[in-house]
Amino acid sequence: MGVMNILVLQASPNLRGSTAILAEEFARGAREAGHKVTRVDVDRLSIAPCTGCVACGYEGPCVQRDDMDGLRKQILAADMLVLATPLYYYGMTAQLKTVVDRFCSANSSITGRRLRSALLTVAWNADDWTFDALEAHYNTLVRYLHWQDCGRVLGYGCGSTGMTRATGYPQAAYELGRGL
Ligand SMILES: Cc1cc2nc3c(=O)[nH]c(=O)nc-3n(C[C@H](O)[C@H](O)[C@H](O)COP(=O)(O)O)c2cc1C
Repeated sequence: MGVMNILVLQASPNLRGSTAILAEEFARGAREAGHKVTRVDVDRLSIAPCTGCVACGYEGPCVQRDDMDGLRKQILAADMLVLATPLYYYGMTAQLKTVVDRFCSANSSITGRRLRSALLTVAWNADDWTFDALEAHYNTLVRYLHWQDCGRVLGYGCGSTGMTRATGYPQAAYELGRGL
């Protein structure tokens, strides 16, 4: 794989939190490997939930005019999408789910790109089942959207930036990016 255009969807509202630490370490590694990395802080965009009108017919203009117009273009210009999210009630944040639901109007285009993907996530809990639901969802998205999974960093016991920095997960995120 040559130089990739990598889009990191950073989905914590804390722009300098634990998710951001993993996202930045991943980006540092991927840039060192020669790739172009763009981080988007999804919380700072104005993106409304899908209304389910299906005027788009699952591929076509969305009736909603908001920041998804620009983000959709960025997604369709990317070779790889990185979902970076803290665990919120055992799933991705609502900010990220809102973006994923809005894939609706570009469903075939996104699927057709055969994007590479990765998952970066952090949680307070450290039980072995902490990420079961999020992983199941991510795995299902990979399968349905014909993504090529390049790996994941599941940050158990990363409840604060101090906790996160004391773990090996930032290094794991760096190595995931560096190895691309
Ligand atoms: C609304 C909310 C829901 C959360 N739900 C969970 C959870 O289900 N399991 C868990 O282990 N941690 C949960 N947490 C803790 C966060 O995942 C954790 O503090 C994480 O480090 C926050 O990442 P950030 O610094 O990138 O925002 C939750 C935190 C918030 C604010």
